[in-house]
Amino acid sequence: MTHNTSNNKVLVTGIQATGRPHIGNYFGTMKQIVELQDKGYENRVFVADYHSLVSVQDADTLSQSTLDLAIDYLAIGVNPELVTIYKQSDVPEVTELTWIFNSITTMPYLMRAHAFKDAEAKNKEINVAKFEYPLLMAADILIHNAEIVPVGKDQKQHIEIARDTAEKFNRIFCKTETEGEEAGIFKMPEAYIVSDVETVPGIDGQKMSKSYGNHIPLFSEDEEIRKLVMSIVTDSGSVATDSSDPMAGIPSNVFNIHKLFIGNSDLIKAGKTYLASEDALKEFYRSTAGKYKPLKDALAEDLILFITPLRAKRAEIAKNPDEVRQMLAQNGAIIREKVHHLVADVRKKVGFVV
Ligand code: ADP
Ligand code: TRP
Repeated sequence: MTHNTSNNKVLVTGIQATGRPHIGNYFGTMKQIVELQDKGYENRVFVADYHSLVSVQDADTLSQSTLDLAIDYLAIGVNPELVTIYKQSDVPEVTELTWIFNSITTMPYLMRAHAFKDAEAKNKEINVAKFEYPLLMAADILIHNAEIVPVGKDQKQHIEIARDTAEKFNRIFCKTETEGEEAGIFKMPEAYIVSDVETVPGIDGQKMSKSYGNHIPLFSEDEEIRKLVMSIVTDSGSVATDSSDPMAGIPSNVFNIHKLFIGNSDLIKAGKTYLASEDALKEFYRSTAGKYKPLKDALAEDLILFITPLRAKRAEIAKNPDEVRQMLAQNGAIIREKVHHLVADVRKKVGFVV
């Protein structure tokens, strides 16, 4: 197995193994991995099983979801020759780094994190791991000295926390008596967020999320797709009536999902010419004169056309789970080796070496 190390710029991202990925995950992050995999980065992509433990507390479920997600990555076209796919828990050094970050982070700072505030607003008693979730994520990123982190918009604040943490660590620990401040150990990572797809809407028009139950799973069966598409909300509140509005008469909840497929050459080749441009798609939507059923039928058909080959590839890969397990184990060891140097440096900087 070869792993591209050409310019030494690391791309890293992870997804939690908390259930089946959905088209929001796909367009928001997973697709970007495929698009960037041959762009000269050293690509490292992981299944965030430590993060998943916050909410999945059943061993069989967690291990199966972890394996499934690795298969999902391969099925969408992540090339294992170009991307090192690994399991977060195979690099336990991230938890050591998290502990170090705990020690330089204040409670009020972490209390400002959206995920914490949302949980608090819902009066949820959150566990300690959920509270410090952003620091584990900072460790995931900083341990690689990553340049870019493809994510959806909801993760932007977490990347900012990673940057703050890097800066804080560098400020506190990277000093020499003679030279003053050194360059610092940690690089500042940049979020890579594609604005058109930064927040893919779900069937109710809110952000698509497993936790809102409004998602279309990426590998769903045809019947499930049809059922979900038919349940997309198209009530009066979701269709603009003001004729000066460019979306007037267009059911935005259907359109905004359909929009994801604009420019998809396979679908266009299959005769879906209305996907050639946003204008063409709008024209198609307007042509049904307020009848939404044909639009939903078209969206369901397009989703099915798009998902069918992914599902077939997934089924093929899933026939050999042991190969995937072996890939994960090998890659875990590769990543552990790669981060060793930086972790040793950090240990020295904080005073763990006597
Ligand atoms: P979920 O909200 O369904 O639990 P995750 O938190 O597991 O999704 O997200 C995994 C990745 O997918 C993250 O990078 C996240 O930003 C991205 N993502 C999740 N939902 C969406 C969405 N609706 N639109 C765009 N990106 C998303
Ligand atoms: N927090 C991310 C999510 O909910 C998953 C994640 C964990 C991640 N560690 C990361 C994403 C590091 C990018 C980089 O989807």
